[in-house]
Amino acid sequence: MNTRVEKALNEQVEKEASSSQFYLAMASWAEGKGLNGTAKFLYTHSDEERFHMLKLVKFINERGGSAIIPGLGVPQKNFKGIENVFQLLLDHELAVTDSINNLVDICLQEKDYSTHNFIQWYVSEQLEEEALARTILDKIKLIGNDKGGLYLFDRDLENAAIQIDKPATF
Ligand code: FEO
Repeated sequence: MNTRVEKALNEQVEKEASSSQFYLAMASWAEGKGLNGTAKFLYTHSDEERFHMLKLVKFINERGGSAIIPGLGVPQKNFKGIENVFQLLLDHELAVTDSINNLVDICLQEKDYSTHNFIQWYVSEQLEEEALARTILDKIKLIGNDKGGLYLFDRDLENAAIQIDKPATF
């Protein structure tokens, strides 16, 4: 496997693993606040990020490279509120999108077209995740300080978590 591509893929492994831990910390915070629907959504999202990481690990190893399983720092554990959580989530996803785009660039520069093809799945996934995070954030802004609205929002998010694609196949 091209060493520059391998290095970039391993950096992406670390980013997906960090995303999973970050969203797990958010889920735990939400659970502690009694926002059970939000917690469920974020636990599911954390699982999805772990799936993104595993998919990369398997690809690197199957292509003759060596996947590196990263050690991770302790993620942020306190949040100012639910809007803060989803703003951080959106900002984080935007940074991941930049990283995926950089990976696409490297594949093209190195003429590694099969990895380029593989990474297109992540390009589409980022579009979906950014759109979802923006939609949720817009709803939170509409709710403002309305406690009844927050209750309904939390219940809706629980249903959204149930509908999210399960990371069953790779
Ligand atoms: Fe795997 Fe949400 O980036």
